[in-house]
Amino acid sequence: MKRLLTVLLASFLYYVGIAQTPHLVQVDATAKSFDISPNMWGIFFEDINFAADGGIYAEMVKNRSFQFNEPLMGWDIDEKNNRNGIILIMNQAGANSRYAQLRISNDSSGFAFSNEGFRGMGFKEGQSYQFSIDARLKELKATDLTVCLLDSNKKTIGKASIKIEGNQWKTYTATIKSSATNPKGSLLLHFSKAGNVDVDMISLFPTDTWKNRPGGLRRDLVQLLANLKPGFIRFPGGCIVEGRDLSNRYQWKQTVGALRDRVPQINRWNTEFKYRDVPDYFQSYGLGFYEYFLLAEDIGASPLPILNCGMACQFNTAELVQIDDLQPYIQDALDLIEFAKGDAKSKWGSLRAQMGHPAPFELKFMGVGNEQWGEQYLERYTVFADAIHKKYPEIQLVSSVGPFSGGDLFNYLNPRLRKLGADILDEHYYAPPSFFFRSASRYDNYDRNGPKIFAGEYASHIPNTDGMARSTWFAAMSEAAFMTGLERNADVVRMASYAPLLAHADAWQWSPDLIWFNSLWSVPTANYFVQQMYSTNRGTHGVKILENNQPLAGKDSLYASAVVDTASKELIIKIVNTLPKAQPIQFMIKGTVSAKALIKGQVLKNTIDLYNTFAKPTAVTPEQIIINSKGNSLPYECPPYSFTVLRIPIDN
Ligand code: AHR
Repeated sequence: MKRLLTVLLASFLYYVGIAQTPHLVQVDATAKSFDISPNMWGIFFEDINFAADGGIYAEMVKNRSFQFNEPLMGWDIDEKNNRNGIILIMNQAGANSRYAQLRISNDSSGFAFSNEGFRGMGFKEGQSYQFSIDARLKELKATDLTVCLLDSNKKTIGKASIKIEGNQWKTYTATIKSSATNPKGSLLLHFSKAGNVDVDMISLFPTDTWKNRPGGLRRDLVQLLANLKPGFIRFPGGCIVEGRDLSNRYQWKQTVGALRDRVPQINRWNTEFKYRDVPDYFQSYGLGFYEYFLLAEDIGASPLPILNCGMACQFNTAELVQIDDLQPYIQDALDLIEFAKGDAKSKWGSLRAQMGHPAPFELKFMGVGNEQWGEQYLERYTVFADAIHKKYPEIQLVSSVGPFSGGDLFNYLNPRLRKLGADILDEHYYAPPSFFFRSASRYDNYDRNGPKIFAGEYASHIPNTDGMARSTWFAAMSEAAFMTGLERNADVVRMASYAPLLAHADAWQWSPDLIWFNSLWSVPTANYFVQQMYSTNRGTHGVKILENNQPLAGKDSLYASAVVDTASKELIIKIVNTLPKAQPIQFMIKGTVSAKALIKGQVLKNTIDLYNTFAKPTAVTPEQIIINSKGNSLPYECPPYSFTVLRIPIDN
């Protein structure tokens, strides 16, 4: 009977994972193998999924200067007053080639029209909004403009009046307070008198923007980026750099200077996916290259601009610039370096100064092309690299190795770019979780003397029946496991970023994404927290973490990496357990574990199919833990389906 009870107890303990023999994991905190780049964990920003206009760029009016292909898209003539006038679209010289002329015929009730915003305007009770409009009158001497914030039932929840006078273009402004919260509001403009009124650059921003900058960025979204403490920010993409054809490519010079001089452009994602049609997706370039550099500086990230190299997207037209005609593209790259860090008296440096930043921005990286491939890329990359390195040898260039992390396109470029002595190779992986688990050891045998690696775009994709790949804990956990491999090989992998970054819940094209938002709120995914747990626990040096002299890269479903932070004097261990049961670990630490401070940590764990939503934004979030242990032998019960970071104070 006693024997039976013992067996039953042992089976029970085994089942709950308590009686398992612990994994003996050796961590050597004394031998710092390699330094971890301060740029290691960064972010990839592309204007996809309404990430810029309708997203982080806080402008609430869609098509503010009537530059969309359909010039009145987003605008609606108010039903009650629709017989009182018409709107003509007028052409004018310059970048902002259009304005609207209101021909108002009825004096008694006036004329009104409204803007729907980006899938509705989000208003918050008590919050102020900054309205502005450029206007001039024709025959009229003066007219009254009433501007109303409307809720989703067209009820007025905020109002301001402006007197418009004179026949010269003038900018008029008003601050309007909202008396209610509504995510699907709109903006109504009502002109009181009959006559012709020209209008342009009609704009509405929350006054509460990031750093309270007028016409700035959405505070909640930038804060989420800042909280990642990113080592770099790559911009503006992505395929948007390439354009569907060359005329549609991203040209940074069209995105700087006064807002009204920027040349709007159709967004390449507008027409890319038939099943996610977004005819109203354009780039106003209110978020242009100056704003990208400023954002990078604000959040402490090194800017990594990616430039077109004379090649349009090879999945689309694959249009090419002849090598002999490549000079303007190369000049754009050289001028961008001058714009970012040239003397404030230089041609492009003076534009930066005029825009508000006389001091140079940091710039040490630049990407040549996005997902290019083939010999055409090599030819163009070589010309670019020669010209840039000749004038700016300190700039490290990021080059494409194609859209996939293996296969013919990769195998063609990879050895050739290595032979050319490329600085940094940009590898991309969008793949199922199994790929990420498997690839935790991808870099263990990479050439230590060749180019460095930038894991420039990656995300674990779990297909879903409704066509949306969800950011489940399983997907995020597979990335956490993969990232132990990046960190263990951080002597070769110097930079990494998840992609894409942002997605509008009502206007996305691509899933999964790191952060979801709508007109008012934002939701970081489980994957976001994985990124954050890495970037805020980056450390300064890699150290060895081994079980039976082998890295933990999937055996027994465990993945681990370790770093030392010389500044905070901590050994930081990251460990992922992908089993549905706990696994006991005994960390055997070489080095002097400090008796003075506590071991603190964070754990992300959950059921594998759970993901964060607007209704439950914190379903998967890290928990803080404190471990009561002293000395060099540290026991840790690694929870089922978990990712843990432990910070162990050390004295050496
Ligand atoms: O991240 C979305 C897209 O995926 C990027 O634009 C492109 O580089 C990749 O194919």
